[in-house]
Amino acid sequence: MSTTTSETPSHKESKGGLEGIVAATTALSKVEGTAGRLIYCGYTIHDLARKTSFEEVMHLLWFGHLPNHKELSDFKLALVAERTMPPMVMQVLRDLPASTEPMDALRTAVSAWGAISIKGHPSIEQALAVTARFPLFLAAFHRLRRGQEPLESRSELDHAANYLYLLTGQVPKDEYIKGLNAYLVLLADHGMNASTFTARVVASTEADIVSAIVAAIGALKGPLHGGAPSKVLDMLNAIGMVDNADSWLHNALAHGERLMGFGHRVYKTEDPRAEELREMSRLADPQGFVLARHVEELALALLEEQKPGRRLYTNVEFYSAVLLAAVGLIGDLFTPTFAMSRVVGWTAHILEQVHHNRLIRPEADYIGPTDLHFLPLSER
Ligand SMILES: CC(C)(COP(=O)(O)OP(=O)(O)OC[C@H]1O[C@@H](n2cnc3c(N)ncnc32)[C@H](O)[C@@H]1OP(=O)(O)O)[C@@H](O)C(=O)NCCC(=O)NCCS
Repeated sequence: MSTTTSETPSHKESKGGLEGIVAATTALSKVEGTAGRLIYCGYTIHDLARKTSFEEVMHLLWFGHLPNHKELSDFKLALVAERTMPPMVMQVLRDLPASTEPMDALRTAVSAWGAISIKGHPSIEQALAVTARFPLFLAAFHRLRRGQEPLESRSELDHAANYLYLLTGQVPKDEYIKGLNAYLVLLADHGMNASTFTARVVASTEADIVSAIVAAIGALKGPLHGGAPSKVLDMLNAIGMVDNADSWLHNALAHGERLMGFGHRVYKTEDPRAEELREMSRLADPQGFVLARHVEELALALLEEQKPGRRLYTNVEFYSAVLLAAVGLIGDLFTPTFAMSRVVGWTAHILEQVHHNRLIRPEADYIGPTDLHFLPLSER
């Protein structure tokens, strides 16, 4: 019979996964699941998605206030100045097999860059330097894996537009820039999500900023966090046309499958980001939008009918997938593009953590034996 020591904390009633546990205080973002609201530093996400650039949101999350004209132009100049790729990092990307997942390539490039570029305590300058390079690393790898040479950034293009340019060599349409900019704004921070928590844990050990970011990229990669959006695209591609939607969705639910892009752990109403992404998707690809909207409406009606009371609504992934596909991204770039946005939230949280640091070191409730009789190796 095993026993536990009297020092072990009692096992509390818990659903696991630290659900409901407050792990930090933050002034960065507030997620209101019942009301369906998301706020960054006091501003509703709807105002930010419609009226600000991703650069303004970077400034907001790192400095705590929206920039004025002068601050914004200085800030943009500083970002553009960081758009450089050390030859060693480019070589690392060239050496990766073309079959490497872009998320792995991004994690590797960030780590290699950090090894030669980052010294000292986390700072806004470091946050800016690493954020500026995410599109470069991703686009360079994407081109190399297709047998194309990486391109030089264009200083007149903002973060979103420059990323699309670096991928394709074309200056993108305004609707694509606007859509991707809104996506980057909307995904930049989201309370104590798993990757942000990961970044804060690493930062709390006084490790460097890049170690915390690399760990966060690892957490984001998993399908329960950022690794699933391309599944929405798979669903829409499998449905193919409006006429197929009803039978396809009925069939999926009859087989106990989950409809991708619906339901959320925190939001028990529509995810506020979905509203913005829906409109951006419509503007970026009016034709493709028709199928997506039809599937969404049917799915919501079916979920209401077949899963009454579960409060299943459109989540951020549904129109993220529609929008990212509309602006020309292929499915395996969705999660690293999410990382390109969320790195701003990660770094803001890292800075917040180190500012009032205390090592994050929770306890485990040991449930194994404590009184086994030890036998030396020769007697086992
Ligand atoms: C996001 C998600 C993991 C949240 O899960 P959760 O809070 O743990 O909710 P649960 O898994 O407890 O689901 C509650 C009920 O709703 C059902 N449900 C939840 N999401 C569903 C979906 N997308 N399609 C069909 N049924 C769904 C579950 O089957 C369950 O039904 P039951 O009570 O008959 O068993 C879940 O809604 C899901 O798997 N969605 C699809 C994948 C997705 O879009 N992921 C991106 C999230 S941003």
